[in-house]
Amino acid sequence: MAEIRIRNTNERIKGNDNVKAFLEKQGVLFEHWDTDKLPEELREKFVLSDEEKNQILATYDAEIRDLAERRGYRTWDIITLSEATPNLDELLKKFESVHTHTEDEVRAITAGNGIFIIKGSDDVGYFDVELEAGDVISVPENNPHFFTLMDNRQVVAVRLFIETEGWIAHPFQDPAFQK
Ligand SMILES: [Fe+2]
Repeated sequence: MAEIRIRNTNERIKGNDNVKAFLEKQGVLFEHWDTDKLPEELREKFVLSDEEKNQILATYDAEIRDLAERRGYRTWDIITLSEATPNLDELLKKFESVHTHTEDEVRAITAGNGIFIIKGSDDVGYFDVELEAGDVISVPENNPHFFTLMDNRQVVAVRLFIETEGWIAHPFQDPAFQK
């Protein structure tokens, strides 16, 4: 289950209902998929063949199509990051700067962990959402954020897009953000 850390106060928000309520207030979609559906051998596997990626997409086909229908996504794929990813450190360095997109950024974690750092309302400021398998999150369009890995440095996630071509990161310079 996801956990929130508010950066200005170090306050942590735990528990499904509290996390969901907090994120709802911030305009961030948060849902959950049943991880028991995934074949056991894929729950801790971070280097995947195309066949295995398709197997994950097939496992969650109903959930993906439901989300797509509600929110207008037209394509989806699987992303994996782990120590086996070439230039992982360089990639993460590139990830770790605040940016925006003209469409929402939706990720469904199917294995491992990840963190979205998101700019919240003025009274909250930046907060981290620590995600685990089963967590589904969508950062609203034009909302400053970035994504990075947790200490285990491994994740598998489903990404859904409205327009794959239009999905570009626009840097967001924010003096209020502190690493
Ligand atoms: Fe992004």
